Amino acid sequence: LVLDSEYDQLKREILDLENKYDFLNSKFSPSKTIGFKPSKNFKKSLHRVPMLSLDNAFHENDLINFEKKITNFLSINKDSEIFYSVEPKIDGISASLTFKNGEFVKGLSRGDGKEGEDITENLKTIRDIPKKINAKYFPEEIDIRGEVFIQNSDFKNLNEKFANPRNAASGSLRQKNPDETKKIPLKFIAYTFGYEKGLAVNNQSDFLSKLDDWGFKTNPLNKLVKGIKNLMKNYQEIEKKRANIDFDIDGIVYKVNNFAMQKRLGNVANAPRWAIAHKFSSNKAVSKILDIEIQVGRTGALTPVAKIKPINIGGVIVSNATLHNEDEINRKDIRIDDTAVIERAGDVIPHILSVNKQKRSKNSKKFIFPKNCPSCGSETIKEFNNITKKVDAVRRCSSEGYYCDKISIEKLKHFVSKEAFNIDGFGKKIVENFWKLKFIKYPQDIFNLDFSEIENLEGWGKLSVQNLKYSIDQKKTISLERFIYSLGIRHIGLENAKLLSKHFVSFSEFKKLSKQNDYEDMLNIDGIGETQVNSIKSFFSNETNKQVLNELEKVLLIKDAIQNSDYGKLKNITFLVTGKLNGISRAEIKSLIEENSGKTLSSVSKKLNFLIIGEKPTKKKVDYARELKIKVIDQVEFLKMLNKTS
Ligand code: IVH
Repeated sequence: LVLDSEYDQLKREILDLENKYDFLNSKFSPSKTIGFKPSKNFKKSLHRVPMLSLDNAFHENDLINFEKKITNFLSINKDSEIFYSVEPKIDGISASLTFKNGEFVKGLSRGDGKEGEDITENLKTIRDIPKKINAKYFPEEIDIRGEVFIQNSDFKNLNEKFANPRNAASGSLRQKNPDETKKIPLKFIAYTFGYEKGLAVNNQSDFLSKLDDWGFKTNPLNKLVKGIKNLMKNYQEIEKKRANIDFDIDGIVYKVNNFAMQKRLGNVANAPRWAIAHKFSSNKAVSKILDIEIQVGRTGALTPVAKIKPINIGGVIVSNATLHNEDEINRKDIRIDDTAVIERAGDVIPHILSVNKQKRSKNSKKFIFPKNCPSCGSETIKEFNNITKKVDAVRRCSSEGYYCDKISIEKLKHFVSKEAFNIDGFGKKIVENFWKLKFIKYPQDIFNLDFSEIENLEGWGKLSVQNLKYSIDQKKTISLERFIYSLGIRHIGLENAKLLSKHFVSFSEFKKLSKQNDYEDMLNIDGIGETQVNSIKSFFSNETNKQVLNELEKVLLIKDAIQNSDYGKLKNITFLVTGKLNGISRAEIKSLIEENSGKTLSSVSKKLNFLIIGEKPTKKKVDYARELKIKVIDQVEFLKMLNKTS
């Protein structure tokens, strides 16, 4: 028996030795015969600053909303025109290149955004990547980030069979032998940075021109634009030119140009508030609906899916299209055997735009949506949404937790997914397979698998089983926030899981919810509302869920949430804002409080330390705060607490 840490240490030593001495790198090496992943030959490495993704916009309205959110957050005039750095979005593979004292020392793939693969040697074969930069004011240390891609003209001349230039770029970047990568004419265009030390630039457009000075390639179509109307104009121009550009672009990225504004805006989950990708319109095609299937999702939602006669839409073979929900089918009167227009936009699941009623045969019948769950037979319901005061468009299986097989399978898929437990090599197919074989039914079963049984299955061998065991063992230590997210409680996505994790700090505190009735306390968490609390309540009222928690606790090490409260000036201090502030939004004050380890509450209670009041505060809140002898301060006094003046 060895400790995980010893094991990791040994593994690292062996890999290092193998890297140094070729003769050690044999197929009998422990690195290939004991719980390793030999198929993935690249070392993993953490990004010092995460690589974020971007939210998508499709229509002018999405852009208007994007800008509205920005002006709201920054609390600036709605009509103030913001400058954007406008950059065509190349559809390639992103990479992060670390330079130390001007030297290219390490290159990582994006990976999951937090951790990438070390593909330094392959990246070094790319001509566009400077290996040594002598420019005078080049930062002491910086991660330059950009896109690796293949030009369409070069792609045509490739002999390799790749479906599209993007796959070709990805495939050649992941060659084991850099000499193979070198044969492919990869290009690199730089557009942002991660960690930096000594970068003296105030905005994105200046940064882009610095990149040029330093010897990087930047996109020649980059621009500085203000006003949504002008963004739209540029979008239409580029879309027209698109076919004649020698690299694939799938949209245009807009970034708030000013770095100080970017910094204030910050991120939500893993996308910045200060940038958005304006995607190009989709591709459409006509095909026939062969059947309509009802899928049952993790939250019990019944989603109708059209099985269509396979058709090529923009280079991808499409055979499924979502029909969204019961209402959508009724509204568009979609039926089996209909001829339909199918749309595929970006990475979004294809959907049915419309059906041609003229082409319908006489005996065509209206599609009747099932009233019972196709998986477990339970009654289905449409919920009444208390906030919108409308009946939900989605019909759901009314069974609870793990009673419905389909729901359970989907819960397990969610449990192992990238943002939850992220178990390498344990994908959806394996969940389905192991489920059928009755190896798994509840999440804890994943950690109690009988590996000797798996080894006897077709397609599995000693090595692949060892790899699986290794991946599972590695994920037995998990952060509280990921853990909460992985439970798949309805309405508790990544952001809310983070809030809950911060609030409860430890698993034992979180688990107390199964005994106590004081759910109201969670309403104090700014961002958690009644919908979420009710959903958590219902989760904990289910005996199976409680059992799952108990069993998981036995096999996992759930790490306490890291509290930055040790450092911040506002440690253990709680705030609530009422009224309109001047030059700063609620959201920004909230981020400021949290950055400094304080907490924001959502109502006045004994737990509140400070009530911050702006113009026209809610009288009730102020009166109640005074009654409870809570300190009432204004914006200036608050900022003074942080030694800020404005
Ligand atoms: S900025 C801070 N700029 O888009 C936001 N990304 O969905 C993230 N991409 O993974 C990066 N062109 O692969 C940025 N000019 C550009 C880009 C760009 C293409 C890709 C990149 C990233 C993805 C985000």
